[in-house]
Amino acid sequence: MMTHDDLLGFSRNWALGIATVAELGDATRSHLETVSIWSAELAKRIGMDEAEAEWLGVAAILHDIGKGAIPRELWLKPAPFFDQEREFIKSHSEFGVAVLERIEEWGQSFVSVALLQAAKEIAWSHHENWDGSGYPRGLSGEEIPLAARIVKVADVVDALLSKRPYKAAWSLTETERELRENSGTEFDPDLVAVFLEGGLKSWLDLSSCSSLVR
Ligand SMILES: [Fe+2]
Ligand SMILES: [Fe+2]
Repeated sequence: MMTHDDLLGFSRNWALGIATVAELGDATRSHLETVSIWSAELAKRIGMDEAEAEWLGVAAILHDIGKGAIPRELWLKPAPFFDQEREFIKSHSEFGVAVLERIEEWGQSFVSVALLQAAKEIAWSHHENWDGSGYPRGLSGEEIPLAARIVKVADVVDALLSKRPYKAAWSLTETERELRENSGTEFDPDLVAVFLEGGLKSWLDLSSCSSLVR
């Protein structure tokens, strides 16, 4: 009989496996793990139940699963993109939901429905902005599922702090300024306030202290 921790660990490894394959050549395992750890921690800090926050962390791993439907050459192309390319890239949110729905159809026996439900919300809405200027649906404020608002903060912060083919790694100061400047437009202002409470450095310590394999 699987314990809750066994199930959580199994689901985390399963999510890391399929996300790594889907995003081959773009997101690193360390990005997926950091987004997972930070999302779960931020959820706990705003008072979410511990187990629920852990599952949110697993679902967060699948935020960009829809990238698997976008040619790798496009992801790896150094910016700037043509308008058409940018629009196609944006469709990864919807592809993500389609992929997860397919998994839901045949995978219910080994992946929890609640996990897939959370993963769909996150995949669909992690590029929505608090002020309604995001995509794909232009949701605003609390219309955006909380899980997606949480993952957005973790995802953007790790992306800014990381070196990518098209950008250098930002400093902690630059990243913190970006978060503050876009609080209430791009990001949920309450989440930004909680995220910055202990300073950005404390989040780096958290991800490097992780027991997950990096
Ligand atoms: Fe994304
Ligand atoms: Fe990401």
